[in-house]
Amino acid sequence: MSDKKVQKLLHITTFGCQMNDYDSGRLAALLTREGYTLTRDKEAADLILLNTCSVREKPEHKVYSFLGSLKEIKKENPNLIVGVAGCVAQQEGEKLLKKVPLLNLVFGPGEVENVAALVKRAQAGERLAATSLGALGRQIEPELPPDPGLKSQVTIMQGCNNFCTYCVVPYVRGREYSRPAETVLAEARGMVEKGTREIMLLGQNVNSYNDAESGLNFPQLLRRVAEIPGLWRVRFTTSHPKDFSPELIEVMAEVPQVMESLHLPAQSGSNRMLKAMNRRYTREHYLDRVELLKKNIKIAALGTDLIVGFPGETEDDFADTLELVRQVRYDYSYSFKYSDRPFAKAADFEDKVPEEVKSERLARLQELQTSKSLELHRELVGRKLEVLVEGPAKRGEALVTGRSRAGRAVNFPGHPSLFGTLVTVEITEARINSLMGRLVKPAQGE
Ligand code: 5AD
Ligand code: SF4
Repeated sequence: MSDKKVQKLLHITTFGCQMNDYDSGRLAALLTREGYTLTRDKEAADLILLNTCSVREKPEHKVYSFLGSLKEIKKENPNLIVGVAGCVAQQEGEKLLKKVPLLNLVFGPGEVENVAALVKRAQAGERLAATSLGALGRQIEPELPPDPGLKSQVTIMQGCNNFCTYCVVPYVRGREYSRPAETVLAEARGMVEKGTREIMLLGQNVNSYNDAESGLNFPQLLRRVAEIPGLWRVRFTTSHPKDFSPELIEVMAEVPQVMESLHLPAQSGSNRMLKAMNRRYTREHYLDRVELLKKNIKIAALGTDLIVGFPGETEDDFADTLELVRQVRYDYSYSFKYSDRPFAKAADFEDKVPEEVKSERLARLQELQTSKSLELHRELVGRKLEVLVEGPAKRGEALVTGRSRAGRAVNFPGHPSLFGTLVTVEITEARINSLMGRLVKPAQGE
């Protein structure tokens, strides 16, 4: 059967962060060029790629259960090529081939550009692990996904030099590399020409973007992207608090296309923990920056990442984190139980916090966040917000969904003709993760 097939089918499953989403887009684009067509159906696929995340223990576990679920499919279709990409691939390399016999191919983030050649070698019968990070810098030439959506992502930098003591990223994604501004701008322009209206600029630490060629820093690049005609909205992630500058706040306040949303991972509210984590800022510095942001931007939404149960975290340290959440009033926070990661320094720290304590702290933190999110959202009832309508809402007939400038999900009764337009919505009801509203008027000029 498969010999007669004219079309080669490719299935990609992606775990992890937006960097992995972006890499999966690249993999799809590069393999489409080789004659592959994307399919959701794993059983029909000739090639299955799993793009993986190893930032915490939990997503890494998911990789092994996904691979386990492919056993039957591989039995039915022995010609199927299975590859693992991303951070687990980089972290484990050859070992992964040994652990998982059905695997044909393992390749890290630095090998994405070589995917076509790697797949060919796997098809020729080789089992191989490619984990060079050397090509990371040259990897991302301007390239458009075949069909960029209303919202697209553009990677502006890769890797990380920060070495937070809990984090595997510098080891699996390599050192920081800023893409040339010209390349970033060409890619963004191309997407806008094909219909993208909102761009998310991506990097592990966008604030340390520094293009040697053009001399542009991140706030300057952000301005240039925002000036692209036809682009309505720009966001960026992630910001490291130590590099989040007043200059950037100025651009956020001044440039209407730059949205009022910011993801600023605090990780902990305790100075003692921040030091042990090698975060290189203090709670006071963090709060200063938040205050400056709030002073300059009226309805900004702040999000954060928090780790509970870092080695040595006492009840007092944890109380500092709870207090930070109360003080900053985050719109949302992603919180995680600390887990040891290969290569990361904290794996060797003593004074590990017991699992039950971590779970209990996580539950308290999440409960507090839920009440804060609801409180903030309630304050928006009665306000009129600009919303970019993205599509049908998941739940609720005849409801459409979009995002406010601050990035909050807004659902309201509306017609599909509104998809892809900017409208004004009056907020009528607050939920924990979203807002309900009613259409006031389609926005002008679009
Ligand atoms: N344990 C728990 N959480 C972690 N993160 C990164 N490494 C770890 C770890 N070892 C969290 C941080 C980071 C987010 C992407 O994942 O909060 O910001
Ligand atoms: Fe990891 Fe810290 Fe780099 Fe973020 S800044 S990727 S947490 S090392």
